[in-house]
Amino acid sequence: MELSTNKLPVHVSIIMDGNGRWAQERGKERVYGHLNGVESVRAVTEECVNLGIKYLSFYAFSEENWGRSEEEVGYLMKLMLESIGKEFEVFMKNGVRFVVLGNRERLNPTLNAAIDNVMEGTSHNTALTFILFISYSGKWDIMHALKKVVEEAVSSPEGLEKARNMKLEDFDDYLVTAGIPDPDLIIRTSGEQRLSNYLLWQGAYSEFYFTDVLWPDFRKEEFRAALAEYAGRDRRYGKVK
Ligand code: IPE
Ligand code: IPE
Ligand code: MG
Repeated sequence: MELSTNKLPVHVSIIMDGNGRWAQERGKERVYGHLNGVESVRAVTEECVNLGIKYLSFYAFSEENWGRSEEEVGYLMKLMLESIGKEFEVFMKNGVRFVVLGNRERLNPTLNAAIDNVMEGTSHNTALTFILFISYSGKWDIMHALKKVVEEAVSSPEGLEKARNMKLEDFDDYLVTAGIPDPDLIIRTSGEQRLSNYLLWQGAYSEFYFTDVLWPDFRKEEFRAALAEYAGRDRRYGKVK
C-alpha cells in the first residue's frame, strides 16, 4: 500500500488492547498476550522510523490497571523493565528518544531507575520520540496540572497574575505532555470503542481509528491500513471547508 508522506500524522498514539483475549483464545494465561504484544510495539516503532513519523506513543498501563491482580500487575511491571533494557541499543541505533509519562511516583524504584537511564541515554536522539504512558490517566493529568497552577498562584503575585491570564494553550505546558504535539491519530485495537481515561485534554481534536484486531496481531500491515485511513480523513476543526 502506498502512503502519501505529506498526509502522515505527526503524532500517532495507540491504546493497545486485547492482549488478554488474544492469550485466552489460545488457551494461555493473559500474560502470554502481554509478552506477544511487545513484538507489535517493536513492529510499529520500526515502521514509524521507516516512514519518518516523529512521535509515537502507547497507552501501556493506566491508573485503573493498578486494580488488576497482583500477579498481572507484577508481570507487566517486570515486562516493561525487561523490554526497556532490551530496547536501549535499538533506540540508539535508530535515533529514538524514549520518554515515559504518567504518575511515576507509583512505579517501583528499580523500574524508575531503568526508565531514567534510558530516557537520559536517548535524550539527544531526534528521529522519533517514543512515549510510553505508564500509570497514566487523563483526569489525573489534568488535576495534576491544575495543582501546579494553584501552587504557582499562591506562591507569588506573578504566579497569581499568570494564572489569572492563562490561555488554553498555556495550560498545555502544565500537562505531562508539555512540548509534545497533541496526537493526530489515536488507534485502539480489540474492538473496544472508548478512551478509557486516555489523553482527555490532548485528544480533543484527534482522529480515531478502531479495529477489531487484537494488539498482539497488530503489525505493520494493520498499522499501514490505519495510516491510509487517516490520510483520507478531512480534519475541519469546527470550520467549514
Ligand atoms: C491491553 O490488553 C494491555 C493492558 C491494558 C495493560 P488487556 O490486558 O486489556 O487485554 P484484554 O482487553 O483483557 O483482552
Ligand atoms: C486501556 O485498556 C488501558 C491500556 C491499554 C493501558 P483496558 O483494557 O484497561 O481498558 P478497559 O478496562 O477496557 O476500559
Ligand atoms: Mg483491555
